[in-house]
Amino acid sequence: MTKERIRCEKLRDRIISAEEAANIFKTGMVVGTSGFTPAGYPKAVPLALAKRADKGDKVEITLMTGASVGDELDGALSRAGVIKKRFPYQTNTSCRNSINNEEIEFSDIHLSHLPQWVKYGFIEKIDIALVEAIAITEEGGIIPSTSIGNANVYVQKADKVIVEINTSQPLGLEGIHDIYSPENPPNRKPIPILKTGDRVGTSYIPCDPEKIVGIVITDIKDANKKLAAIDEDSRKMANNLIDFLEGEIRFGRLPENLLPLQSGVGSVANAVLGGLVDSNYENLTVYSEVLQDSVLDLIDCGKVNTASSTSLTLSEERLENFYNNIDQYKEKIILRPQEISNNPEVIRRLGIIAINTAIEVDLYGNVNSSNIMGSRLMNGIGGSGDFARNAYLSIFVTQTTAKNGNISCIVPMVSHCDHTEHDVQIIVTEQGVADLRGLSPKGRAKTIIENCATGEYKEMLKDYYNRALKCSKYKHTPHIIGEALSWHNRFLETGTMRINP
Ligand code: COA
Repeated sequence: MTKERIRCEKLRDRIISAEEAANIFKTGMVVGTSGFTPAGYPKAVPLALAKRADKGDKVEITLMTGASVGDELDGALSRAGVIKKRFPYQTNTSCRNSINNEEIEFSDIHLSHLPQWVKYGFIEKIDIALVEAIAITEEGGIIPSTSIGNANVYVQKADKVIVEINTSQPLGLEGIHDIYSPENPPNRKPIPILKTGDRVGTSYIPCDPEKIVGIVITDIKDANKKLAAIDEDSRKMANNLIDFLEGEIRFGRLPENLLPLQSGVGSVANAVLGGLVDSNYENLTVYSEVLQDSVLDLIDCGKVNTASSTSLTLSEERLENFYNNIDQYKEKIILRPQEISNNPEVIRRLGIIAINTAIEVDLYGNVNSSNIMGSRLMNGIGGSGDFARNAYLSIFVTQTTAKNGNISCIVPMVSHCDHTEHDVQIIVTEQGVADLRGLSPKGRAKTIIENCATGEYKEMLKDYYNRALKCSKYKHTPHIIGEALSWHNRFLETGTMRINP
């Protein structure tokens, strides 16, 4: 095993235990790890570090990852009080609670920005890069596992590198990665990706072997989550979206095989892509930050030719099947650093159809993706902004209501804004599709109310809009400022946005 996994001979004597590796971390250090979704993140060292802190050896760090990671990293370290500052995205309950309780300072950053900011020196310098790998090459190059995220940038910028070789990740993954890192301005050149399948980099993360201070061997598996079953509303949203795309083809605004698809994580995203399995499309392509089960289904049925991403977020069963057929999938799947998977230049050039989920949208098309009732962090903006602003088509999906109908997801004014009206072209709910392209704010409001809202909230939105139009002195974006957030206020005070519950 050691020879296959640690091919650089002089590194073989740097194998240490997870506990020894955990002792390298000191309070105040900035740690950059691999990992993007619960895939390809380090596990053994964070667990040992949490144990060390639980025993009373206080250590507090700044943690940067690719995006969300598994509980062994975000969960264990939050609960042990090790994380003091966190960048750029998370989905872990313990971590989220600590952020909302002020125990962790969280900086919510576009996923394509963080690697640049580290390279530009805009934020804290990385002390330790901690990365999961399947192997180390003869020259010390690190071959990542099921995700890349920012691992290449952290390895490049860190003083010290600790590698977790994970033997539960098969060596067959070698060759799936394409590592490319643009230079900083003024020396930056165009990223030479012209098609989703183009390979432009190396199959490993270049690393000076002298920086590798420890190698930990582990076999802890990625904590893959089971996807929620596709519910009726998700199915309706998927159908509405597919009908919309059909229309775009009829109008000659999309080719027969669409353009590369980006789709967020979660059940709606999975349902949308899953819906394409029974469609007539052929030769589809995917250029996204995550690949879920549905993309593998689309590859299996011959509908998807190439899928590019920075992570593989598969359910346990699907991952097993992927590993068993890895050579076939490797011909169609490419994993890239998130600086490339989420790169605005490439997204704009390829003409991505970006499909992301909103927490709430307002009458004028502004979208909140990250904060509940204006203050409670859910996850973060993630890559949604990278894709939405630069996409060929920027689509947001949301159900019309949440929490048993006590919350309307279409509101007079969003309580937090991640995507402004200028970045949002299409809104899809289970009720229908609002095509906002080329509309003025008033046109957007009428279209959203008419096509996407329903029931008593639809009547409340109409009433608000009509009164706003009447009483606003200026009529461009009519609002009753003192009332615009009253729906949220009513929910916070009474538990529902309804007027007559
Ligand atoms: N107000 C309050 N809560 C709301 C809400 C609203 N308007 N809309 C949804 N919610 C709640 C849901 O009830 C659910 O709560 P629960 O966790 O207590 O069950 C939770 O928000 C998640 O909603 P869900 O409908 O399950 O959607 P999701 O799992 O697809 O997540 C986002 C939706 C927006 C939170 C998620 O997509 C996200 O974090 N997006 C930002 C990152 C991103 O888009 N990345 C790019 C692609 S990966």
